[in-house]
Amino acid sequence: MYDILILGCGYLGLRLARHYQEQGLSVAGVVRSQTGIERLSQAGIPALRHDLAAADPFPRALAGTRVFHLIPPPDTGREDIHTRQLIAAFAQAGQPRRLVYLSTTGVYGDCQGAWIDEDWPTRPVHDRSVRRLDAEERLRRWSQEQGSELVILRVAGIYGPGRLPLERLRQGIPLIRVEESPYSNRIHVDDLVTVCMAAMERAPNGAIYNVSDGHPTSMTEYFLAIADAAGLPHPPLISMAEAPAQLSAAMMSYLSESRRLSNRRLREELGIELRYPTLAEGLAQALGLETQADGGMA
Ligand SMILES: NC(=O)c1ccc[n+]([C@@H]2O[C@H](COP(=O)([O-])OP(=O)(O)OC[C@H]3O[C@@H](n4cnc5c(N)ncnc54)[C@H](OP(=O)(O)O)[C@@H]3O)[C@@H](O)[C@H]2O)c1
Repeated sequence: MYDILILGCGYLGLRLARHYQEQGLSVAGVVRSQTGIERLSQAGIPALRHDLAAADPFPRALAGTRVFHLIPPPDTGREDIHTRQLIAAFAQAGQPRRLVYLSTTGVYGDCQGAWIDEDWPTRPVHDRSVRRLDAEERLRRWSQEQGSELVILRVAGIYGPGRLPLERLRQGIPLIRVEESPYSNRIHVDDLVTVCMAAMERAPNGAIYNVSDGHPTSMTEYFLAIADAAGLPHPPLISMAEAPAQLSAAMMSYLSESRRLSNRRLREELGIELRYPTLAEGLAQALGLETQADGGMA
């Protein structure tokens, strides 16, 4: 049996797995594709293949393990069928001791630019966020019924090496004028790894944390900062009224929500000290512009 199982071992999960291995713990990652298996094998991380979209039995005993659930919901519908299947799989493979779930800040819906903490009511607007809240609620019920511990992380946009919208900027896709642009919140992947490990080690059972660097900017300022740091030209700026004709439906859905995330609970209750509290510091690392080798996970 592994000490730690990472369900959905992709961009974040692989970095998390490396850190646990460095600490001498046994860790395995669960993915659904052959490509995912090969990616983990190349990184020296034991890999299991299991697709939560299917109702197949889970490939390993889970009783007493510590589990990260990083598998996103399906792309359609208002329920997270994947989490439903996972809870059914626990009934057959054994209940984990503790589960940390990666949710998103979309569960708060549009907050019209307000500063929000974890007590802000959840009012998801778009189906993708309704599915996230469905996952949270299913897991809360499961935790209460089974006595397994649960921690929920509501995570802002993840960025880091290989996770920047450089291609979008190269294509010159327009951005909304700064004065009309909604707020966006972010977290560097290395800091998110630190938060995930702290949540597993010492968060109280049932806790919820917003995970962001605490320095929101408008979405347009985020893209422009990346363009400047990467030496790319600024895309044209358009009004919100012009946007539906020029931007994708997915981008329009992100533009319809604005909130500023407080990370006070994360810092004060979990004792997290962020390595990249501002975008400027995080971008320098993500783009390989740091002046010294940092020994990071890039
Ligand atoms: N990107 C963001 O800004 C952001 C913000 C907040 C929260 N999140 C959430 O945080 C989590 C981790 O993010 P990430 O960037 O590391 O995600 P990622 O790189 O896309 O990795 C997701 C992993 O989940 C696996 N997976 C997907 N569907 C599956 C299924 N049906 N059954 C089993 N495994 C499945 C994938 O397997 P394969 O490798 O085989 O495809 C992949 O390993 C995700 O849930 C993501 O939605 C992301």
